[in-house]
Amino acid sequence: MKLHRHALAGSLIALGMALAATPATAQQAPAAPWMNAKASTDERVRLVLAQMTDEEKLTLVFGYFGTDFPPRNGYKAPAEARPGSAGYIPAIPRLSIPAQWQTDAGVGVATQGGAARKRGRTALPSGLATTASWDVNLAHAGGAMIGAEARASGFNVMLAGGVNLMREPRNGRNFEYGGEDPLLAGTMVGAQIAGIQSNHIVSTVKHYAVNDQETDRDTGNSIIDPVAARMSDLLAFQIAIEKGDPGSVMCSYNRVNGTHACENPWLLTDVLRRDWGFKGFVMSDWGATHSTAPAANAGLDQDSGFPFDKEPYFGAPLKAAVATGDVSKARLDAMAGAILHGMFANGLFDKPVTEAPMDLAPAMLAAHANVTRKDAEGGAVLLQNNGAILPLSPAVKKIVVIGGHADKGVLAGSGSSLVYPVVPNGVPGLKPTGWPGPVMYYADAPLAAIKRQAPNAEVVFADGKDTGGAAKLAKDADVAIVFGTQWAGESFDVELSLDDNQDKLIAAVTKANPKTVVVLETGGPVLTPWRGQVAGILAAWYPGTQGGSAIANLLFGKVNPSGHLPATFPASLDQLPKPSTPNKGDTTYGEGATVGYKWYDAKGLTPAFPFGHGLSYAAFLYDKLSAQAAGGTITTSFTIRNNSQIKGKAVPQIYVAGAGWEAPKRLGAFTKVALVPGEAKTLTLTIDPRLLATFDGASNSWKITGGTYQVMLGTSAKDIVATVPVTLEARTIAVGWRP
Ligand code: BGC
Repeated sequence: MKLHRHALAGSLIALGMALAATPATAQQAPAAPWMNAKASTDERVRLVLAQMTDEEKLTLVFGYFGTDFPPRNGYKAPAEARPGSAGYIPAIPRLSIPAQWQTDAGVGVATQGGAARKRGRTALPSGLATTASWDVNLAHAGGAMIGAEARASGFNVMLAGGVNLMREPRNGRNFEYGGEDPLLAGTMVGAQIAGIQSNHIVSTVKHYAVNDQETDRDTGNSIIDPVAARMSDLLAFQIAIEKGDPGSVMCSYNRVNGTHACENPWLLTDVLRRDWGFKGFVMSDWGATHSTAPAANAGLDQDSGFPFDKEPYFGAPLKAAVATGDVSKARLDAMAGAILHGMFANGLFDKPVTEAPMDLAPAMLAAHANVTRKDAEGGAVLLQNNGAILPLSPAVKKIVVIGGHADKGVLAGSGSSLVYPVVPNGVPGLKPTGWPGPVMYYADAPLAAIKRQAPNAEVVFADGKDTGGAAKLAKDADVAIVFGTQWAGESFDVELSLDDNQDKLIAAVTKANPKTVVVLETGGPVLTPWRGQVAGILAAWYPGTQGGSAIANLLFGKVNPSGHLPATFPASLDQLPKPSTPNKGDTTYGEGATVGYKWYDAKGLTPAFPFGHGLSYAAFLYDKLSAQAAGGTITTSFTIRNNSQIKGKAVPQIYVAGAGWEAPKRLGAFTKVALVPGEAKTLTLTIDPRLLATFDGASNSWKITGGTYQVMLGTSAKDIVATVPVTLEARTIAVGWRP
């Protein structure tokens, strides 16, 4: 059966290619009216569309894979594609329509695993790490940096902007996303998208939608109450789209309530187009298209990476469907128009990419190293600091560093988003070396960075394989630093725990010397059964190509930790809504919108470390919380003071409690503020009114119930420092309302 499908795809591949091979005729149109950058995007789309043949429209909707892919009938990427890239859509020179050169993804310019030569680029910390900074400016700056590298590499579409909500802490792709809260995730990922697009390229928000686990991702069915989805997974997308205005949305592999996401009219047309007014284009994930007319008519505009599909659905089969009327000409116009809209709106016509070097200028890479290091420093979360073991004094005499290949580098997440660094893998050859690998360690080793911070100390390393030996070594040290790692990536889910040996290692080292600090390099939350014994815990996530330097700066207090958890760290597996899954087939999200801390609140569970938690070496005092109802929402005000001797950054969080909600409280607003010693600031935060409402399926709108709401100021979902009541009037908010 498989062989047969490949053979079929092969013949259609040839057809699809013939379709797209419209020759670049000599007749360019330099003064074409749609090339006038001053005209509105809608007008430019209308003008060029009027000139296009059906063949040309069909060219725009059909995506090639940018890398040779021998298993698919000897597929060879078009010569014009960027080598080793994710996607390519040919140019239409007659009309000055540029090609689309598409690259993954969220932490920088990736190269496909199958590529013979990899581009060496700067990798940001994981998306979850950036979200953990709660720093919108940092997310924007990181996006601007990776977008600049994409552009300088010859790409004009970046497949970045992962915002799937963390319903399942074992999802292998959580590191690519923005955590468990729709406001935080949507705001941070939206800022990254805006940063990427500031380079006049398109960014893509993904994977739309409810693609919250990797197990069985191609056929699995996410079953969710549509109303609950509006207040959780979809709200994260909605906010990211509002804040980032991405040129494109990528629909996901899974089914949602029975229908594949890329042929799901409710998701693609009702919610995205009709309710949210999205004007860019929907591209499928690679291999997520499952039909021609049903997908096109449901709202899919561009079929990506066609060799991953069973058939090249938007190649010859779409041409045939247009001929028979199964897909109307009007629909084909809408598809091409949406693609052109995303391209015009983001400058693809006006600021075309020109060069596509395999290597970038060293000066650019040096500047970008600072951007990624700052991101890693801003997103690392100090979870525990008993007895103020941190920051370490540079005068410390003996430091024992254990495990996690800390002598070689820092771990990265894998899959299509993997960015290959400029220097070789710090720990080559770990399995799997092929998809979804390789396992990558960026060679900015924490050990070397620690040595740089404490030049007079004796710093020894043990790889941790010999638990007893490591414990013995740690015994008389001033501090033992154990690195706990967990590799995660695309196409698989992970355990909630570090592997057994690491938990045993940490326990043994701590028993020998309680002055132990654990540094975690993980894709998301893990169980921390040893937290009662260790002194310090720093969650460094996957910290990117400058991760070792960032970790040492934090441990020694060169930089004051300021990250806060974007997701709850459970105390045990049985606290999860689905202790025994990720499962295959149907996954019913019975918890609805009660995701993350909302679940813990609703069930009265005490996690190991709550959402929003994060310590600092400084101390902040909060006062004078007030809340006013105005303009149909709530505005809060409070003061914050740095009550310590060192500068630091705080993350004040506003939570709200209302009656009849899915959970006792929701995050309503947040900010990140820098304060020098003794400095005080008064801050004012306004709550997005949709966060005070519930979605009403019958009227397809948001409804705020009139009555009294409790407004809370907190430093985490569990640490509320002040509460004030405020009375709101009832309000209906249109589904298409934007802040
Ligand atoms: C991933 C996408 C990615 C695409 C192109 C897929 O496997 O799910 O996130 O953008 O490949 O590489």
